[in-house]
Amino acid sequence: MMKRCAIPLLALLSAVLLRPGSAVAESPPLALMAANCDGCHGENGRSPGSIPSLAGRPAGELAGLLRSFKSGARPSTIMGRIITPFGGDEIRRLADYFAALPKATTATTAATVTERGGE
Ligand code: HEC
Repeated sequence: MMKRCAIPLLALLSAVLLRPGSAVAESPPLALMAANCDGCHGENGRSPGSIPSLAGRPAGELAGLLRSFKSGARPSTIMGRIITPFGGDEIRRLADYFAALPKATTATTAATVTERGGE
């Protein structure tokens, strides 16, 4: 009797366990997470206004700032509330993403367009 139900149970278990990521909550795609930031920090992390740009800054610095907003160690008007739902791994991925983007300076905007024109 035990033998008969053990097999389908095992099959079910392995179907669940052998598909990594499918049974646990997955992070949203990076592009979707980063799109949350564009509205304030500018497209591709290059802010046109008074909110700091994120593009091209060291990943460790960005991640550190985000973690301290999340913990409340660094006072913020809005960032603490924005970053709260993001996990440590997501913060790292966001920081890496913005660090890898071309840095913002008013002078390089036109140059960057020219560089990309060749692609
Ligand atoms: C509603 C506007 C808004 C959104 C959306 C937003 N930020 Fe911010 N961000 C700010 C403001 C304003 C500050 C300055 C700190 C404060 O007062 O909250 C800031 C500060 C920061 C800083 C610190 C910069 C520095 O030099 O001190 C980082 C890093 C940062 N944000 C990352 C992000 C990331 C990553 C996202 C997307 C997940 C994001 N922000 C989404 C408004 C926003």
